[in-house]
Amino acid sequence: MQSEYILVNGVAVDMPSDGDMALLVMLRETLALKGSRFGCGQGLCGACLVLVDGRPAFSCSTPVWSVAGRSVTTVEALVSTPLGGRIVSALLSHQAGQCGYCLSGIFVRLYDVLSGDGPFTRAGLAERLERNLCRCGAHDRILRAALSVAVEGAVG
Ligand code: FES
Ligand code: FES
Repeated sequence: MQSEYILVNGVAVDMPSDGDMALLVMLRETLALKGSRFGCGQGLCGACLVLVDGRPAFSCSTPVWSVAGRSVTTVEALVSTPLGGRIVSALLSHQAGQCGYCLSGIFVRLYDVLSGDGPFTRAGLAERLERNLCRCGAHDRILRAALSVAVEGAVG
């Protein structure tokens, strides 16, 4: 039997009646969690990235039925973790955002990458960020921010 709830940032949330609704729509419109952004709507840009059971997922192309009974973690929860705080500080100090639209998705990606095992290299981080687009072309500053977190020891 399909579960009737989704765990969102540790809180059990009722499944919406429309199981085909995109997870991103539920997060933004039903739960008012606006950190995950709508970019392409097709799983191509990364603006909507969240973690589902700890793994990155494009919430724009994830129907809510597919996350029934599973754990969804959004940028709102991750920023208050020790690693999340360090990533935010690094992004700010490197002025990594221009318009900032891509940054919550990039933050979730960096959180996933940097909570894993190193060593981290610029080329390796760039490869992991390939599915997160930045229309402003701020990838160089984003990579410098990510490397600064990596060299100070990412796990935390
Ligand atoms: S909005 Fe989801 S990948 Fe672009
Ligand atoms: S800072 Fe504008 S899209 Fe990345």
